[in-house]
Amino acid sequence: MRRIMLASLSLTLVAPAFAQTARTADPAPLELTARQDHKLMMEALGIKSLRDGANGGNRNAPNAANYDESKVKPFTLPDPLVCADGAKVATPEQWWTKRRPEIVEEFDREVYGRVPKDVPAVKWEVVETKRETVGAIAAVTKQLVGRVDNSRCPSIKVEIQLTLTTPAEAKGPVPVMMEFGFVFGGRRPGGPPTKAGAAFKTKAAGFGPPAGGPSWREQVLAKGWGCAIIVPVSIQADNGAGLTKGIIGLCNKGQPRKPDDWGSLRAWAWGASRALDYFETDKDVDAKQVGIEGLSRYGKAALVAMAYDQRFAIGFIGSSGEGGAKLHRRNFGELVENLTGSGEYHWMAGNFLKYGGPLTPADLPVDAHELIALCAPRPTFISYGASSGPGSEGQWLDQRGSFMAAVAAGPVFRLLGKKDLGTSEFPAVETPIVDGELAYRQHKGGHTTGPNWPTFLAFADRYIHLKAAPAGGDR
Ligand code: GCU
Repeated sequence: MRRIMLASLSLTLVAPAFAQTARTADPAPLELTARQDHKLMMEALGIKSLRDGANGGNRNAPNAANYDESKVKPFTLPDPLVCADGAKVATPEQWWTKRRPEIVEEFDREVYGRVPKDVPAVKWEVVETKRETVGAIAAVTKQLVGRVDNSRCPSIKVEIQLTLTTPAEAKGPVPVMMEFGFVFGGRRPGGPPTKAGAAFKTKAAGFGPPAGGPSWREQVLAKGWGCAIIVPVSIQADNGAGLTKGIIGLCNKGQPRKPDDWGSLRAWAWGASRALDYFETDKDVDAKQVGIEGLSRYGKAALVAMAYDQRFAIGFIGSSGEGGAKLHRRNFGELVENLTGSGEYHWMAGNFLKYGGPLTPADLPVDAHELIALCAPRPTFISYGASSGPGSEGQWLDQRGSFMAAVAAGPVFRLLGKKDLGTSEFPAVETPIVDGELAYRQHKGGHTTGPNWPTFLAFADRYIHLKAAPAGGDR
């Protein structure tokens, strides 16, 4: 009798622990360094070695970045309007139903990785609402948290941070420009990923608003629009060690990625889409007129978000470089091989590593012009800082290679009845190419989108319109 009682007592005491173990029979989430995770991915792909990336910091290094046009090797780009079976795309319908899905599949599988089919739901909550003045404009700022259902792996928490600021005097839902925000406080998230990157950044002229001028938020609010900032690292860390955590790790229950799983760029873009889901429920936002903007690694993310989610009405793609608007096949500045190293591979699908090892960039089934083409027919503004002159951002990100990608995306915009760049001649600094739905401009100054905001907003004015107050007056 006594024994039985004891047994039932201990059963009661340990029951919750048993229940926990039974529910999460999966192995504990892995703690890996970026190098360990990178190595595991190389093994999964059967890759023995990877080529070195370009060195942007030492001109005398054997692998010094190429900044000489005469040393660019000839390359052939895949034709965005020729299907895998060789059929030529002649109608918008063929683009939408056949060719576009083919291109998306190739980017999914080989470049940015697939978003799993069963990503858990995000529940948005407004945690704070406050009045503030931005410049001289009275505004209302909501601080939001998007909590991802983590019942499948309770030890991994994902809480997406988003702020939304709208003019206090708004008379109805307003268009919104959303930025992938760098979190300040010493240094940017992730820090310099490679030696080359580090050298590049010390030379960069900063990320802030243009000296003396209104900030981008003031400029946007002055038009009666709203502005939002989403924090990418609250979705997914900006390093390989984080791949068993964040939204990617949560979906994999803390285990390493499969070769075609998503990388951080696709995850950040996914998060921006979830913010857009929220905007669709917020009466202060005109969710059909939401644009996306980002700089550098977040310029890449902005382009990926714009390409994949057709609900984004307009894109402002800042200094996105390799992995963004720059052609992978062009050996100038940063290379595919920089992205396949352990400092940056987390941005991409694991499969992308193959192109820095056994394969070459020329083997990629797609190139950056096709990512830009996926944005068509929506207005897309490719922005850079000047490559030379005082405070320039250098050539690491390849301003010209990105212009060439935009030129090569042109046929898709035209097929869909829109105007492309209208020229294939690389424009001088501060010469805006903004007559079509595809736009390009280099501003004077550094690694920032700051000085291009006025030109972008003038371009955006053609497409994004503040609607009149709804009948019946104030909301
Ligand atoms: C490095 C990296 C770039 C990236 C940039 C950034 O320079 O090589 O690809 O865009 O960092 O995000 O700051």
